[in-house]
Amino acid sequence: MTKISVGADTQRVDGRDKVLGRALYGADRLLPRMAHAVPVVATVGKGRIVSIDVAGTEQVKGVLLVLDYRSMDRLQPVAFSFAGGHAIQSLQPLQGPDIAYRGQAIALVIADTLEAAMEGAALVRVTYEATPFSVDLDSAGREEVLQEPATKYFKDFIHGEPEAVIGSAPVVLDQFYRTSPQHQNPMELLSTVAAWDGDLLTIYEGTQASQAVQQGLCIQLGLAPEKVRVISPYIGGGFGQRGSISPHTVFAAVAARRVGRPVKLLVPRAQVFHATSFRAANEHHIRIGADREGHIVGGVHRVRAQTSRFDLMPYTGQETTARMYSWPAFRGSTTLVKLDTQTPGFMRAPMEMGSFFSLESALDELAYTLNMDPVELRLRNDAQADPISGKPFTSRHLRTCLERGAELFGWNRRKPKPASMRDPDGTMIGWGVAAGAYPGYISPALAKVRLQRDGTVILSVGGHEMGQGIRTVIAIVAAEELGVEPEKVRVQIGDTAVPPQHTTAGAWGAATAAPPVRAAARNVREQLIKLVVEQKGAPLYGSDPKTLTLQDGWLTGLKGRQRVSEILRTARLPGLEAQASGGAPGMRPDALKEAAVGKIAAAGPEFPDYVAFSFVAHFVEVKIDPAIPRPRVTRVVTVVDCGKVISRRTAESQVYGGIVWGIGAALTEASEVDPRFGGFLNNNIAEYQVPVNADVRQCEIRFIDREDPVFNSLGAKGLGEVACVGAAGAIANAIFHATGRRVRRLPIRLDDLMVDSNVRL
Ligand code: MOS
Repeated sequence: MTKISVGADTQRVDGRDKVLGRALYGADRLLPRMAHAVPVVATVGKGRIVSIDVAGTEQVKGVLLVLDYRSMDRLQPVAFSFAGGHAIQSLQPLQGPDIAYRGQAIALVIADTLEAAMEGAALVRVTYEATPFSVDLDSAGREEVLQEPATKYFKDFIHGEPEAVIGSAPVVLDQFYRTSPQHQNPMELLSTVAAWDGDLLTIYEGTQASQAVQQGLCIQLGLAPEKVRVISPYIGGGFGQRGSISPHTVFAAVAARRVGRPVKLLVPRAQVFHATSFRAANEHHIRIGADREGHIVGGVHRVRAQTSRFDLMPYTGQETTARMYSWPAFRGSTTLVKLDTQTPGFMRAPMEMGSFFSLESALDELAYTLNMDPVELRLRNDAQADPISGKPFTSRHLRTCLERGAELFGWNRRKPKPASMRDPDGTMIGWGVAAGAYPGYISPALAKVRLQRDGTVILSVGGHEMGQGIRTVIAIVAAEELGVEPEKVRVQIGDTAVPPQHTTAGAWGAATAAPPVRAAARNVREQLIKLVVEQKGAPLYGSDPKTLTLQDGWLTGLKGRQRVSEILRTARLPGLEAQASGGAPGMRPDALKEAAVGKIAAAGPEFPDYVAFSFVAHFVEVKIDPAIPRPRVTRVVTVVDCGKVISRRTAESQVYGGIVWGIGAALTEASEVDPRFGGFLNNNIAEYQVPVNADVRQCEIRFIDREDPVFNSLGAKGLGEVACVGAAGAIANAIFHATGRRVRRLPIRLDDLMVDSNVRL
């Protein structure tokens, strides 16, 4: 076997288990005597329950129990994650008769079989007193609050006095952009299997935050942490949907306790749209002043972002737009708009998707105003240091991303004039560019590594595998240090039995888990070398123990080799182990403790001496049939600066996925709200359209692949989120180039491009 090293293009270590169905997801757990729970949800936009009749439900054969606010256990409140707590929102359904939003759970039917539970759920009869509600950013009944000072930690981003500078600039861009609410829609539905063994509770659930789920449950049920174990080895797609505890988890736990049997609760797709977080609707007001040569003199980025009536979900996208260009003056501020939905939250590049669609559309518009190439405009305003703090970037290869992307794409063959490029059959062609960035975060972590006599490696660290490939990343790093095949590394993650399991999100997984794994594995390797030198003497292996290589279970030196199992047997040791903690400079001293109690304790993107961001450039071709103007994305070139690539295959897959998400955001994905009904209407994947294979054509992916040794010892920055930042903007810009029509609202649909239609915004 060739020695595995960081950057290798290896198979996913869990790929085989997944295709053989051996990887168990939450709802795959089938426990003896398991009962099934099905929620019933509110069908009014807001109001109060007047009556609930469960008589019909209780008649259904197999129904064991019906819970509603009258019969449900009283739960201790668990705070919203951005208010210092653990929950996706502060509102826990089934605790009273009030309905805060359409789709809120109002009852739970538990039965022997899923079918009986569904039948019983359909027979719950409810009458309501309906009250007025507001579900979109323009509703009369909305309530607006300034994020600063309404939230404690989330400040405006201010540098200089941009309004004054823009007011006297020779060229000014001043536009509004809009994005729709969106839902994550991973393939794996929200689900929980809850099982009690005496007073010990075990939860099997696909979550990005097993520790937060554990702690949240302990608070809700008044249990000690050692009484609850949460197991989340695999997640069938996270995308930010599962970063905190959601209401359904405690439903399953209570149901299981009440019926004295394990309970599975699988939230149906239609209910998922209201059962946990989603991406908030945004309005972006962007103002940019520039001189006639395209030097930006100031920028203002004001956002109105949706939140719920009961929680303030912060919007922080300007944290990144503030660092994107060399703004001599900048202001980023947020107004939160309280609406009658559940609390919005994370969805892949949660804030940056909307922010960069808007910013990068604005740059494109500015380029046309200036009659300048849009790549050149971006290069001209590339930042050398953080405009807000003045601190340096840990690394920034945005310029190279743009230059390399332009070359690969053949950008120099672009005719700048809109609607000027066509195929011989008349199909309109558009070429667009956009860039993006995403903050570099690191969360606290503890890694434990153990090398066994049989050559296997057992390691645990904080992390959750949601398909992004963190198991493979960790295995590659340990395999490189310990000279084993990645398949020999048993990775224990997502399980509160090996704490702390900090939430995995914000593209901080690899940068968080890999450095302490490497440090612990290196320590084990050094222990092994020390052992063999003690046993055999250094001369046998040459004078420098560093020349020893470890591979395939053998430690090889200049003058001989020795079996690892033999070394351990001679030393009468079953194995060698070490642990190492990870974190970032300036991290709170109690960060690891905070992580151990399920709190978000990540640091970044501003550190004491620098700021850290990943960067990306997207080049996109769209083709549009003028008769039926449905845009097709026919070609994409994406170049990413994510520092060192640890696992090439999963990294490429992440970027591929990011491009697909960009296509979805630009062209198909919107959660539709209707002011007459409340909630989200297209709560199914037939009407909430995610791109399918036919929507995705040629994608070329490149990495700068240069280590960022300042950010961490692996030199790896975040990747999962930056991959999709700006992609929707590049598509919108390509559509403008193809048609001459600037659409400032996502998603862009056929009707926006019809000859006689009025652009909606
Ligand atoms: Mo990511 S949207 O922070 O899981």
